[in-house]
Amino acid sequence: RGYEFIKTSKSDKGALLIELNRPKALNALCTPLIIELNQALKEAETDSSIGATVITGSEKAFAAGADIKEMKDLSFSDAYGKDFIENWSEQVYNVKKPIIAAVNGFALGGGCELAMMADVLYVGEKAKFGQPEIKLGVIPGAGGSQRLARAIGKAKAMEICLTGDMFSAQQAYDWGLAAKIFPPEQLVSEAVKTAEKIASYSKIAVKAVKEVINEGYNLGLDQGIKYERRVFHSLFGSHDQKEGMSAFAEKREPKWKDE
Ligand code: HXC
Repeated sequence: RGYEFIKTSKSDKGALLIELNRPKALNALCTPLIIELNQALKEAETDSSIGATVITGSEKAFAAGADIKEMKDLSFSDAYGKDFIENWSEQVYNVKKPIIAAVNGFALGGGCELAMMADVLYVGEKAKFGQPEIKLGVIPGAGGSQRLARAIGKAKAMEICLTGDMFSAQQAYDWGLAAKIFPPEQLVSEAVKTAEKIASYSKIAVKAVKEVINEGYNLGLDQGIKYERRVFHSLFGSHDQKEGMSAFAEKREPKWKDE
């Protein structure tokens, strides 16, 4: 279908690739781009042939942030009244199928936040991250300060948000923010391969993994472990648990029904 600011393509093994495509503005996240991104994610959610999504940008920029030119004249009542940012960031975060962010180039401000909203972050060796909002007289507004601190610790998150300095792909990987690091030209195909691997499993079990890990961030350890166990128990009511375990015992490949 025809999008203006993103490109989408589906692999025959169940991965959806979404490329942010606003090259003249380094993929700055203007409202129409976000509307298209949410639309594509919503379609992926209901398309049973898709198991996982990869979001990427270009080699130069994943996304250079929210669109500063669009934002600059907002008043407090515009921002607060319409709950600016909430309407897009929560939608990305609330998608139930896994999202892999494949980041080459700049991931700044809202771009860094979008990358951190994804379930898995893969980086190209030349990627550059940062929360430069402080240089614009504001602060991160789509979870950057919170997700960064939880992912890499208070000391580094505080320094990054207070200085606006960028950090490298290698640092993102060394600090545990990124799951894997690749040469730039291999990044997207490796991310798609991982999405296809995820898509080859039972959608019910995949959804449950994402749910329990994310829910855990809002819970204490004991509650999180209990929650995981209850969801684990519930999977014994699924067809795919019977199929997965029978297939193992019978030494054959499982045939998932996603139910
Ligand atoms: C609007 C942007 C933009 C942005 C770049 N552009 N970032 N437009 N919003 N965030 C535009 C430039 O204005 C320019 O347009 C074109 O993209 C190319 O950018 P250059 O600056 O010429 O490129 P370069 O010299 O290579 O520098 C790259 C850069 C720099 C270091 C990434 O563009 C930059 O600092 N961008 C701003 C990054 C930032 O502050 N992001 C945080 C935004 S606040 P023209 O028309 O001049 O060619 C934010 C708040 C989040 O994200 C809140 C929740 C979402």
